[in-house]
Amino acid sequence: MKLLIINGPNLNMLGIREPDIYGRQTYQDLVNYVNQICADKGIVCEVFQSNHEGDIVDKIQAAYGNTDGIVINPAAYTHTSVAILDALKAVSIPAVEVHLSDVNERECFRHISYAGMACEKTYAGFGFSGYKMAIEYLENRGKM
Ligand code: DQA
Repeated sequence: MKLLIINGPNLNMLGIREPDIYGRQTYQDLVNYVNQICADKGIVCEVFQSNHEGDIVDKIQAAYGNTDGIVINPAAYTHTSVAILDALKAVSIPAVEVHLSDVNERECFRHISYAGMACEKTYAGFGFSGYKMAIEYLENRGKM
């Protein structure tokens, strides 16, 4: 099984940005965490981060035909990007949305998720563990 893990803008600033919301672990800690989970399960994974909407769209398009599942934390683009929603719909790869924080308990503008409309599941507010939940969802879905 091959998974693509996509992280959107400012997630590269984990550990520095708003630690009261996002914690003190760094982006590299997150990459290591995800890679270890996938390695333990024998899943091939690529972890990608970009601050640029078009690069994320390009990455989703490039996954067409060669990727079994997408885990995506579009970060701020969650709440604005119809382009990312359309890209996920275009490739029809099973996708799961993850947010470190519980977006539904935060400002109203974070309550809408465009990308989430193309995702089978959302895990929000579980910190790094949300990525594990998303990977396991896709892993079990693949066994069905
Ligand atoms: C986030 C939540 C978003 O609202 C925010 O813009 C982020 C991170 C999260 O992981 O909790 O950058 O996606």
